[in-house]
Amino acid sequence: MPKNVFAGQHALEQLGAILTADIKKAVIFTDKGVLSAGLTGIPEQILADKGIEYSIISEIPAEPSYLQAQEIVDRFKHEHADFIIAVGGGSVMDVAKLASILATDAYTVKDLLDNPLLAQKQVPSLMIPTTAGTGSEATPNSIVAVPEQELKVGIVNPAMIADYVILDGRLIKKLPKHIAAATGVDALCHAIECFTSAKANPFSDTFALEGLDLIMNNVIEACTNPEALEAKNKMLLGSFYAGVAITSSGTTAVHALSYPLGGKYHIPHGVSNAILLTPVMRFNEPAIQEHLARAYDRVVKDGNRELSAAEKSRFIISELERIVAVLEIPTSLKTFNVPESDLEGLVEAGMQVTRLLVNNMREVTPDDARKIYMEVL
Ligand SMILES: NC(=O)c1ccc[n+]([C@@H]2O[C@H](COP(=O)([O-])OP(=O)(O)OC[C@H]3O[C@@H](n4cnc5c(N)ncnc54)[C@H](O)[C@@H]3O)[C@@H](O)[C@H]2O)c1
Ligand SMILES: [Zn+2]
Repeated sequence: MPKNVFAGQHALEQLGAILTADIKKAVIFTDKGVLSAGLTGIPEQILADKGIEYSIISEIPAEPSYLQAQEIVDRFKHEHADFIIAVGGGSVMDVAKLASILATDAYTVKDLLDNPLLAQKQVPSLMIPTTAGTGSEATPNSIVAVPEQELKVGIVNPAMIADYVILDGRLIKKLPKHIAAATGVDALCHAIECFTSAKANPFSDTFALEGLDLIMNNVIEACTNPEALEAKNKMLLGSFYAGVAITSSGTTAVHALSYPLGGKYHIPHGVSNAILLTPVMRFNEPAIQEHLARAYDRVVKDGNRELSAAEKSRFIISELERIVAVLEIPTSLKTFNVPESDLEGLVEAGMQVTRLLVNNMREVTPDDARKIYMEVL
């Protein structure tokens, strides 16, 4: 876990305390959307006030490939910086995390695809998420696309864990609704998948359940009401907690079957998860009913404690479906022109994501994957 986390109202101003006198040069990692939303303004001001030299790398594309990530890492090397500040969503944070361990010429991003543990931390990093979110600020993961395999691959190395995190609701205030919705449901998937994962344990449950509670009870308000700062702060905390849960548990078949949709059709990560969330939860239900009943008892504040586990679990799944519908996230691959003739390719690619499929409480056979994809095609 990151050791220093600042959250809540005016958390961003804590940057002044993080920037110690030994820091000579910082690089702000961001992207065009975040930059034009003005979200690097306060960090830049604090850097200037402290007299710390800085530069900005803002060319990070959304959902970068490993080669695009390498280009940014190479640019970063020329800056000779001793501190990294990432201001952005998962795409920005994932590249910044790679840069924090690839600041010398010893290894490339491609090397890490083959052997993720090769590199060690070289430059301390601060993550300031502007989506809520991927939870990347909490995890040792960096996700890059591998176009030649039409897949997205997670590089996992504990050295990439951020040294500092700032969670400030003001940064997601102007997040466009469709991005807020998709990233919010990504966080929701992290929480519910980690809680129902075969790798779940008392530590991950603590974070997954609290994250689920915060997210399910705030995601709609946070995404639809620009003034709902409290709901936005709770979403940032919930998505961070869900990220912590990932580090000790792991996501399951929603994320596993979602990877080919990102890799091949470039469907945004949160959207492809949202499309698969309800079908996979329905498929998993026989194996996770008790878990979902526990989630009901925690999340549904005015719930009926006398309901059976089956009834509670059905309610939670219907709530997940309702959240995706209210937030107007597409639920069919038809929206993205995925032809039915691609079904077998999807099944084959999805079944390759064994890293996550092994976490699923109900075994997923190729036939099961086929049925799930057919539901959303
Ligand atoms: N490392 C991890 O643990 C982890 C976990 C889940 C997902 N991911 C990865 O993260 C990436 C997706 O990240 P994401 O969903 O946060 O989106 P993103 O970083 O790709 O951003 C999406 C778009 O939103 C814009 N944007 C972001 N914040 C904004 C703001 N506050 N105001 C206005 N515009 C804003 C960006 O400019 C960009 O155009 C994927 O590559 C995914 O695979 C990583
Ligand atoms: Zn995710």
